Amino acid sequence: MKELTEKKVFPPPADFQQKARIKSNDVYEEGKDYKKFWEARANEMIDWYEKWDKVLEVDEPYYKWFVNGKLNASYNCLDRWIESGKGNKLAYIWEGENGEVRKFTYKQLYEEVNKFANALKSMGVKKGDIISIYLPMIPELPIAMLAAARIGAPHSVVFAGFSAEALRSRVEDAGSKYLITCDGYYRRGKILNHKEKSDEGIEGLDLKKVIVVKRAGNDVPMKEGRDVWWDDVIEGKSTKCEPAVMDAEDLLFLMYTSGTTGKPKGVMHTTAGYMVGTATTMKWVFDVKDDDVYWCTADIGWITGHSYIVYGPLANNVTSIIYEGAPDYPSKDRWWEIIEKYKVTILYTAPTAIRLAMKWGEEWPNKHDLSSLRLLGTVGEPINPEAWLWYYNVIGKKHCPIVDTWWMTETGMHIITPLPGVTKLKPGSATFPFPGIKAEVRDEHGICKTGEKGDLVITTPWPAMLRGLYNAHDKYIEEYWSKYGFGKFFTGDGAIVDEDGYFWLLGRLGDVLNVAGHRLGTAEVESALVSHESVAEAAVVGIPDEIKGQVPFAYVVLRQDAKPSDELKKELIKHVSKVIGPTARPSDILFVEDLPKTRSGKIMRRILKKLAEGSKDVGDITTLRNPEIVEEIKNSLQR
Ligand code: PRX
Repeated sequence: MKELTEKKVFPPPADFQQKARIKSNDVYEEGKDYKKFWEARANEMIDWYEKWDKVLEVDEPYYKWFVNGKLNASYNCLDRWIESGKGNKLAYIWEGENGEVRKFTYKQLYEEVNKFANALKSMGVKKGDIISIYLPMIPELPIAMLAAARIGAPHSVVFAGFSAEALRSRVEDAGSKYLITCDGYYRRGKILNHKEKSDEGIEGLDLKKVIVVKRAGNDVPMKEGRDVWWDDVIEGKSTKCEPAVMDAEDLLFLMYTSGTTGKPKGVMHTTAGYMVGTATTMKWVFDVKDDDVYWCTADIGWITGHSYIVYGPLANNVTSIIYEGAPDYPSKDRWWEIIEKYKVTILYTAPTAIRLAMKWGEEWPNKHDLSSLRLLGTVGEPINPEAWLWYYNVIGKKHCPIVDTWWMTETGMHIITPLPGVTKLKPGSATFPFPGIKAEVRDEHGICKTGEKGDLVITTPWPAMLRGLYNAHDKYIEEYWSKYGFGKFFTGDGAIVDEDGYFWLLGRLGDVLNVAGHRLGTAEVESALVSHESVAEAAVVGIPDEIKGQVPFAYVVLRQDAKPSDELKKELIKHVSKVIGPTARPSDILFVEDLPKTRSGKIMRRILKKLAEGSKDVGDITTLRNPEIVEEIKNSLQR
């Protein structure tokens, strides 16, 4: 516990507090009656066609918020700002990796969204059809999401860095008949041929239309009758498309994420609760004001981008930056240059990026004027106090509070987070549950004592909570509600509460890794490995990494006819990258004769993890069927 707690506490700077939207602890008091609290937020943050009959309806483990309320997410992000005279404000400033800039006012974004919504309709898309979107960080990505939301077609965005096979499994699971993709895009100066990857992913699937954005201008094949260019389908379309009146509980989107099995699961988010939750946290946690320029560096393909680049900021009439490329292209000060150029006031990024910037050295940020910054945020993984302090001192110049926001794909919105005008910060702690939310740290015996490690559990329903897993009811119960029962949402994260009630997040427990802020199931990597013809069996564990937080380490048992070699190792690493995507690449592979197993045949990953971490004491091995293998593996690791 001692090593977790930095002695120094950082209260909000006086001038920040003075101007902050939320200045006092009263909001936590108000949050104690959570239904009333969220009802007030629903009234103040969202425009409704019809108000709800009931704030919350519980049919465990399913929850409905703002029952029978009617609204449209795209209307709340666009139309209402134009109607209230705020349409000329910039919604997005997009910067391409090559330095191109495209700016969209709310009015312009509205027009693009409406045109594309009409295009979707003209292609036969109906309310309820799930549209898969496989686009990099270009403006057409949020435009496509909002257009889908406008006509009531839920979207399922697949991160562009994911492999063809990852795309395929998601398109198949969602049953999408429409895919939006692009020709190519830039990464560190090179054009990545995205269309080729998309085509490989959907080969043999029965898609009605594939809409292709022209981004890089590379030559790509277009399949007759199926593939159409984005520019052609919006040509001549009206800039007006009536938003569909959606029920509060209509599906807004699916977001696939890693769980404990080899197959990613489709987390379901519905319209009203998600909008209320993201709009409120955006406003309170980021303290957004009219003149802010906000930049979240996440990819829109992850939940962070959905909630805090698209829906949260737009529902607050905020101006956001979207950057297409890599942080070190053409040089390691690209991010800091962008902050200076656009006078960014709020920066939201991941600890892994901060650690990388730290490694590159402060000369890069110091070349630029970062004085516009007034608030910093982090998300995605625990931030070590050293990185926190560097972020605070070098980037924030000691005058910007840091909001370390803990949440996950399933929560849709921030759950444990400071309020920057209120909370006294402790570096490395995400501090307290957001008003209206209760959380505890417990184990099978009950709530853990102060300073004791346990499972983080959320004990009140919250509006942006997932509504289930797509076509996977049993899995939904098993993953979140079986460990502690209904009413106690099992997050899968370890945590500690300290003597002042601060929450310290300790990362994922069990079979899910967090690689540079990206969630990855060990089972996914294992199933990718065993899909290779040379592999008989594989076990994957996470090991600590200075920059990425964690990386996968793989133990592989080869088939009889395969021989261990460096070439095979490289081939297997490449294979995993192809099956899942580059983030899943094992940092190393150890070929072994066997894996430590219990008598019932269960692989003891706990032992493998300790071995990979170089720990001398691997704990109890008496329950193993093959205890001798532990010594053998230890020896091979030392070699
Ligand atoms: O382990 C937690 C970690 O990220 C996981 C959720 O991953 P994902 O669903 O991909 O969403 C990431 C962006 C919200 C959590 O289970 N995590 C997220 N934020 C933090 C964090 N761990 C510690 N501190 C955080 N602030």
